[in-house]
Amino acid sequence: MPALQFQLEITDAKSAARAGTITTDHGTIQTPIFMPVGTIGSVKAVTQQQLADPIKAQIILGNTYHLYLRPGMQVMEKAGGLHQFMNWNKPILTDSGGFQVFSLAGNRKINEEGVMFQSHIDGSKHLFTPEKVMDIERTIGADIMMAFDECPPANAEYKYALNSMNLTHRWLDRCFKHFNATPDKYGHTQNLFPIVQGAVHHDLRKASCEYIASKEATGNAIGGLSVGEPEPVMYEICQLCCENLPTQKPRYLMGVGTPWNILECIALGIDMFDCVMPTRNGRNAMLFTSKGIINIDNKKWEYDFSPIDDGIDCEWSHYYSKSYVRHLFKASEILGLTIASVQNLAFYLWLVKEARKHIQQGDFLAWKNEMVPVLKTRL
Ligand code: GUN
Repeated sequence: MPALQFQLEITDAKSAARAGTITTDHGTIQTPIFMPVGTIGSVKAVTQQQLADPIKAQIILGNTYHLYLRPGMQVMEKAGGLHQFMNWNKPILTDSGGFQVFSLAGNRKINEEGVMFQSHIDGSKHLFTPEKVMDIERTIGADIMMAFDECPPANAEYKYALNSMNLTHRWLDRCFKHFNATPDKYGHTQNLFPIVQGAVHHDLRKASCEYIASKEATGNAIGGLSVGEPEPVMYEICQLCCENLPTQKPRYLMGVGTPWNILECIALGIDMFDCVMPTRNGRNAMLFTSKGIINIDNKKWEYDFSPIDDGIDCEWSHYYSKSYVRHLFKASEILGLTIASVQNLAFYLWLVKEARKHIQQGDFLAWKNEMVPVLKTRL
C-alpha cells in the first residue's frame, strides 16, 4: 500500500491558505481539516455514528499515553488495533505522549534515553523512549503516528529551548530509525510525522523546521504553540514555521485552538488542526456557533426556542432549541453534553469546510476577515 499522499489543489492568491486532499489507506481527508480528539478511544460524549453523521469527521485523534495506560497494548493488539477496537474505519492520528507526559503524568524524569513518569491513574512507573512510543503507535495502528518530542513551556528561556529542541531532534532520528525497522502491523500503511519545536525563538524554530524538513516525511507538524504565549506570538511563530516547512506536504498545527485561531492559521498555511476545546468547552456549557459564542447556562436562553445554530449544515443544530439545551444543562441531563459536543464539533467541521470553499472560490481572505469578529462575539 502506498504511503500517505498530499495533493495540493490550490493556494490562495492573497494569503498562504491552501486547499488539498490527503489520501490514506483508510480514506481521503479534505484540507484544511479539523480532527476531533478521541483521547482514550472515544470522542467524549459522542458516538462513532454521530462522528460520521451529523459531525462529518474525516479523521480523529487518539492518544498514545492514555491508550498505553488503559486499556493497554495487549487488549489493543488482540482487538486488531484502534480502528477495529472502536469500530472507526476512517483515518486515525495518534499523538505520541510527548505532550501528555509533560502535562498529565506525575514525577517526570527526562534524560537522553526518554522520560520516566508516573501514571495519573494509579501512580505506576513507566518509561517512554522513542522506540517504545513507535511500538505503541504501531500497535494502536494509527494512519499517522506522531514523533516523540519534548514540548517546552512557552516561557522556556533560550538555553532550555535549545537543549530541548536538540533532544527532540535526536529522539526524532531514533523514531525514524525504529519506525523504518518495524513493519506496518495491520496491512494498512502507517506514516510518521515529525514535530517542530523551539519555543518562541525564531532562530530555533527556523533550525527546527530545516531539520524536520530534511526527514522528508509525508507530513510535518508544529508543536509547542498555544501553551501560554500571547496570540500574536503564536501567529508569528506559526507563520515562520509555515514559511520554512515544505509546501508539498501537509502542515499540522498541534492543539490549536479557538475558531478564530483556526481561520488565522489557515491563512498562514496550516492544513490540519486538533483541539479539545470544542468538546471540553461544550461539556462546560459553551457553544460555538456561526453567529458567535453562547453560554447555554445563561438565563438569557430560558425562553429562546430558536435552533442552536441554523447557520451550519448540521441537523442537530436545527433540531434542538437553545431553551431545551439550557434546560438539559440546568438539570444535569447527560444528553446536554452530547448535544453541546455535537454542535461544537459540527461547527468546527463546518468552519474548515467553509474555509476550503472560500479558498477554492478565491475570496478566502475577505471571508476570513469578516468571520473572525463574528466568531469572537459573545451572544
Ligand atoms: N499537542 C499540542 N502541542 C503538542 C506538542 O508540542 N507535542 C505533542 N506531541 N503534542 C502536542
